[in-house]
Amino acid sequence: MPLFTKETAAPASPAPRAVPVHIAAIMDGNGRWAVKRGLPRKAGHAAGAEALRKVLYHCRDIGVKYLTVYAFSTENWKRSEEEVGALMVLLKKYLIEAIDSMEREHIKLYVMGDLGRLSPELRALSDRALEKSRTVEGMQLNVCFNYGGRDEIVRAARKYAEDFAAGRAGALDEALFSAYLDSADIPDPEFIIRTGGEQRTSNFLLWQSAYAEYWFTDTLWPDITPADFDRAIAAVGRRERRYGGAK
Ligand code: FPP
Repeated sequence: MPLFTKETAAPASPAPRAVPVHIAAIMDGNGRWAVKRGLPRKAGHAAGAEALRKVLYHCRDIGVKYLTVYAFSTENWKRSEEEVGALMVLLKKYLIEAIDSMEREHIKLYVMGDLGRLSPELRALSDRALEKSRTVEGMQLNVCFNYGGRDEIVRAARKYAEDFAAGRAGALDEALFSAYLDSADIPDPEFIIRTGGEQRTSNFLLWQSAYAEYWFTDTLWPDITPADFDRAIAAVGRRERRYGGAK
């Protein structure tokens, strides 16, 4: 089934509660999902890509503006050649389908991370998706690929240092530093969903998650559904967020 084809004609009705502007997700548990079924790990990633497609359309339909997902970390190169290759193929598929369908589906696609280590073909597709996204009205899917929070901060610090040395940048503060991150112009996520039962950040959005709420579930990512996202939105909506202030 194509990743970017909508299955249902009628959009889901907007949720009555406040809808977050930006949700992020650590899509964990693909490997276990596959192993439990006697399948190769890459089958778990393919099922995970399908689950992502469903929650992406749901997020769009209820009015979420940004969905950021962790698809390949700077540490994932340690996995087998077969698994790494399968994730590259999935990225290519997502990019091609997004380029083809983004105007129709109103979903922009942005790849965040150090793209320097990706193939020239993937880099070119990512550039095309970014270019085309500029003309599209709609929500934005950010796919973190060869992404690490520490790596992003170091790359941003290097770029700022170069600009400062060349007289192109002034004194550093939080707002200026944010503009050097891959997430420049993207508001911080209100909350981060992590599936698969682990409760850690795993180098995901280290800067941007400063005030994010976390929502954890034992559900493995390929089994995640739009209803789970609704439950997460409702649960996080009930929490009181004080941003360091007092009651
Ligand atoms: C972590 O689960 C998941 C990943 C490393 C890959 C996530 C990728 C997808 C859901 C496919 C979508 C891809 C693109 C390019 C849009 P794990 O494999 O570490 O699971 P485990 O903890 O059960 O081993």
